Amino acid sequence: MIGQDTNIYKNVLELIGNTPLLLASNLDTGPCRLYLKIESANPGGSIKDRIALFMIEEAEKKGQIAPGDTLIEATAGNTGVGLALVALQKGYRLQIIMPDKMSIEKKYCLEAMGAEVILTRSDVGKGHPQYYQDLAQTIASENGAFYVNQFANRANVKAHYATTGPEIWQQTGGAIDALVCGVGTGGTLSGAGSYLKECNPELEIILADPEGSLLAPLVETGTPPEVIGSWFVEGIGEDFVPEICDLRLVDRAYSITDRESFHTALDLLRLEGIMAGPSSGTLLAAALRYCRSSKSCKNVVSFVCDTGNRYLSKLYNRQWRQNHLGE
Ligand SMILES: Cc1ncc(COP(=O)(O)O)c(C=O)c1O
Repeated sequence: MIGQDTNIYKNVLELIGNTPLLLASNLDTGPCRLYLKIESANPGGSIKDRIALFMIEEAEKKGQIAPGDTLIEATAGNTGVGLALVALQKGYRLQIIMPDKMSIEKKYCLEAMGAEVILTRSDVGKGHPQYYQDLAQTIASENGAFYVNQFANRANVKAHYATTGPEIWQQTGGAIDALVCGVGTGGTLSGAGSYLKECNPELEIILADPEGSLLAPLVETGTPPEVIGSWFVEGIGEDFVPEICDLRLVDRAYSITDRESFHTALDLLRLEGIMAGPSSGTLLAAALRYCRSSKSCKNVVSFVCDTGNRYLSKLYNRQWRQNHLGE
């Protein structure tokens, strides 16, 4: 019987994590070797599957939720898809609060997976009642739903400390000099970053941040910028420092324009055959700057955070690029 084969997975959730590491062979990485951890290979198509599973199982262990309950989350979309995947398998209802700048594919995907999607304003900041995180909190307390809250949930960090970090260390045989990551919640940075720095205190952590976000200027100057901008890249960049985000881990930060992010993502597809989302373009652009400015050969790891299939109407649509990036 096929099912007795140990290579056969018995549940889609077992497919989360253990993603491949790809050496970038055709991009110009200067004297360095750049490896990309292909998080788009997770079953929900993004790095966020890892935290969705951890956050739900942690809440179950604490007795905060049980199948049949309603979960609510504020998300740029990918955490929602990860939660929908877990919710379907475990029998939870799911409400998603998503800013309206996010690609329509994410809404379709979430609805196809049984989630209820509430779109809210993208042009308001933390503290405004229509801001997606404030709105999620309000709806959760009014309806008695469980607010997963990836921005303050320690299980988010734990997921990356327990899985992403150790996988990278093992896959590189410990030969890693730098990690390049973005910050949405800071879970990847705080979890994988702290694990890898504990393994090798010399390891450098490089923040890739969209231009307009508060984070890179804060790291570089020690003070938040007076004006927070807006950006098209989805899932990374912030107008505040999330509770779980440990920026002290960051050694250097790069601000990357939308234009550079989008074009670098297109290069990634053309040269390496990986169709990723725009945030992966931001990470890759920062990684390439770091690699090309290096005087010696370093092993650098970054992420392909989500699948490009979720951005066919934007990044991979010439008309959209013409209208929004002025091409
Ligand atoms: C689409 C997307 N979401 C989120 C993140 C960052 O995740 P975190 O919430 O762990 O900071 C990334 C990564 O760089 C990303 O590309």
